[in-house]
Amino acid sequence: MSIDRISMLPAALLLLLNAALSAAQTRTSLAVDSVLPTHAPNPPFFTIPTATQLAISVALCSGTVDTPTPRFFVTNTSSTASPGPDGGTDVFEIVLDQGLGSWTGPFPSGGVLGVSDAAQMPFEIGVSSEYPIHSSDDASALLGDTTATEALLFSPPFEQPEIIIPAYPNYTLPAAIPSIPQPPSDPKNYTLIVSPTSNGLTSMQQTSCALSTQKSTGIVANQSLWLRDDLGWRTEWTMTGLTPQTNYTAYVILDAYKVTTPIFFTTKSSSFSCSLVSRLPYCPSISYAVPLSPPPSPAITYDSTNLPASIGDPIVAILTNFTTMLTTFACGRDFYSPLVTCADCQEAYRTWLCAVSFSRCADPATAPPNAALLQSQSPNARNKAFPSGNNFTQLLPCLETCTATDRACPNFLGFRCPLPRFNAAQSYGVGYVDSGADGVMGGGHPGMWADDFGNVWCNSGL
Ligand SMILES: *[C@@H]1O[C@H](CO)[C@@H](O)[C@H](O)[C@H]1NC(C)=O
Ligand SMILES: *[C@@H]1O[C@H](CO)[C@@H](O)[C@H](O)[C@H]1NC(C)=O
Ligand SMILES: *[C@@H]1O[C@H](CO)[C@@H](O)[C@H](O)[C@H]1NC(C)=O
Ligand SMILES: *[C@@H]1O[C@H](CO)[C@@H](O)[C@H](O)[C@H]1NC(C)=O
Ligand SMILES: *[C@@H]1O[C@H](CO)[C@@H](O)[C@H](O)[C@H]1NC(C)=O
Ligand SMILES: *[C@@H]1O[C@H](CO)[C@@H](O)[C@H](O)[C@H]1NC(C)=O
Ligand SMILES: *[C@@H]1O[C@H](CO)[C@@H](O)[C@H](O)[C@H]1NC(C)=O
Repeated sequence: MSIDRISMLPAALLLLLNAALSAAQTRTSLAVDSVLPTHAPNPPFFTIPTATQLAISVALCSGTVDTPTPRFFVTNTSSTASPGPDGGTDVFEIVLDQGLGSWTGPFPSGGVLGVSDAAQMPFEIGVSSEYPIHSSDDASALLGDTTATEALLFSPPFEQPEIIIPAYPNYTLPAAIPSIPQPPSDPKNYTLIVSPTSNGLTSMQQTSCALSTQKSTGIVANQSLWLRDDLGWRTEWTMTGLTPQTNYTAYVILDAYKVTTPIFFTTKSSSFSCSLVSRLPYCPSISYAVPLSPPPSPAITYDSTNLPASIGDPIVAILTNFTTMLTTFACGRDFYSPLVTCADCQEAYRTWLCAVSFSRCADPATAPPNAALLQSQSPNARNKAFPSGNNFTQLLPCLETCTATDRACPNFLGFRCPLPRFNAAQSYGVGYVDSGADGVMGGGHPGMWADDFGNVWCNSGL
């Protein structure tokens, strides 16, 4: 239609035509495999490209879980429809949960995403040819331990290492210092967000764009990969710059848009004088505060490079000796139990030995009521290899760490645990995981050794 023909149309019709043209022109097109941070446009529609299958995800970037939220409607009938609350053929609402929602389906002739009641709410739209870009994840971070101003935190595990089960006749157990496989070259990209619990992150929309508006507290002093257990590699963060005796909330975000379940932890009081240790190949799961004065600067925590050899060497020697004694049994040819093997025995013994060799410090001011605390211990009371120093409060090992070893190992090794009805409670936390009655598994109070609120009742060594 030429310009002079249009100019001859009645004025009202011309206005209508202009509006229709501009509506079509101003519809923002969404691109596949990308995220668009935006507000509701006018008119409130986005066009979706043609594709066999697309996952459309929406994340709200402000407000709390109680604020009235916009509604999102998607249609896969055409790229010119105007989907909204009135419904219609193939109009689907993307229902939001804690600020997050998605819809996956075919778009043979493209589609449209419509927004209603958005006001000025900022949000993100993700379009993917595979899985929704925005999602939530049941995994959560793992707390190692805290001091007054520091914390050790781990991401959920990823990339499980190949576990070699030894077999007869070449039944070879891991050495006392096991060889650690190469860390994954393309690790999962986790980002840590730590914020004082008083900032109320858990009542905000549980989306990465909303949570990221709260600047993360503290300083990530170090970030590295660590194979803490058989579950897989984890990103380990060493945080500094935290405030003593403060409750914190921690989230990890995967690939910038996937939000995991929060965990909580409390820093110790300012008089707490123990130091964090982790990254010991012979005790891979140990990552907590031990009665040592701070490591020589610039290190913040102890690891295998700066832990005094007088502490590490005896542990390695005992593990070596134990492994030698264990393999005098014809492991893999003969069986001492239908349930467990020499490899299980060695692993359980390692966990136990590490938990009892590294006394775990506790802070009476922030420990949960009824934790297995032993007040005023000298640092070398349990392990002569530790230098003496300020007395500390110990969090006793869980009795179950001992009984697990007893159950996993052959009798001839003579490994025994104290019995609850005699003196076990003097050296172990009794009744937390198991009930505390001799031989009863489970039923203890609180039935676990730690929870996601940073409460730790006894030292499991895990
Ligand atoms: C739109 O998606 C729905 C649900 O997946 C499907 O049943 C319907 O056939 C699709 N419509 C078109 C036009 O492809
Ligand atoms: C026995 O197993 C170990 C570890 O799996 C391996 O390194 C070694 O080469 C094996 N020895 C023989 C003789 O197969
Ligand atoms: C931390 O949270 C716990 C449990 O929610 C509460 O009892 C405690 O008073 C809080 N501590 C501080 C320092 O806010
Ligand atoms: C990891 O994600 C962050 C955003 O959360 C991004 O800035 C960074 O570039 C990503 N790193 C890699 C290696 O992909
Ligand atoms: C950070 O961790 C790496 C890997 O363990 C270590 O080599 C480095 O010394 C650490 N840096 C600090 C400042 O602790
Ligand atoms: C290793 O075992 C032998 C024999 O039981 C014992 O004499 C030796 O003291 C042990 N060494 C260590 C470091 O435990
Ligand atoms: C430290 O604890 C020991 C018992 O483990 C006790 O004999 C000693 O008096 C304590 N020292 C101080 C300074 O409290």
